[in-house]
Amino acid sequence: MLTFNRCTLEARVVDITTLAVDAIVNAANTSLLGGGGVDGAIHRAAGQALLRECEGLGGCATGDARITRGYALPAGQVIHAVGPIWQGGAHGEAELLASCYRRSLEIASDANCRSIAFPAISCGIYRFPAAQAVRIAVDAVLDTLPRTPQLGQVVFACFDSAMLALYESELTRRQAPPSKPV
Ligand code: AR6
Repeated sequence: MLTFNRCTLEARVVDITTLAVDAIVNAANTSLLGGGGVDGAIHRAAGQALLRECEGLGGCATGDARITRGYALPAGQVIHAVGPIWQGGAHGEAELLASCYRRSLEIASDANCRSIAFPAISCGIYRFPAAQAVRIAVDAVLDTLPRTPQLGQVVFACFDSAMLALYESELTRRQAPPSKPV
């Protein structure tokens, strides 16, 4: 766990659809009409009403995000972020992925959310290399938090322990060293 700007950042192995946070982030596609992976799990757990709201949004560009209600989910709202498909790394993938985290936090903050949980966007079906994606995710969150002061909790929801280990090592690496006794 890491505390930054009065916000705790923590990684957990957990099914993101079970988290009772103010907003969970979905790893969506540009149609916003559902799919596999975490997107499928969120739509199944939220129910048909989520799809109906998504149908009215008209899609979303890669690197951007849209907010909906959470319906049957324990989370209050869902922020649907569209990560990049990994194409070797020379197609702006890193910036687009950072933009997903930045935009999600901005949207959460505008909606007065105090807690938010992210999946590892683009790290499944979109095949972004996990270690690089985790570095980008933590950097982007730390860069954005000074502009979103009402956020007090960020959870990185990991599907397995390999992903958890990557997040924990990134969060530990950024921990300020203990202050020296005077
Ligand atoms: N809770 C937390 N993490 C999960 C869960 C869950 N319930 N389910 C999967 N993950 P992916 P992408 C992890 O493939 O790569 C969809 O079809 C998973 O292990 O869900 O951004 C969309 O519609 C991985 O680490 O998203 C898009 O078309 C991470 O979540 C496309 O897939 C993201 O994997 C998006 O692909």
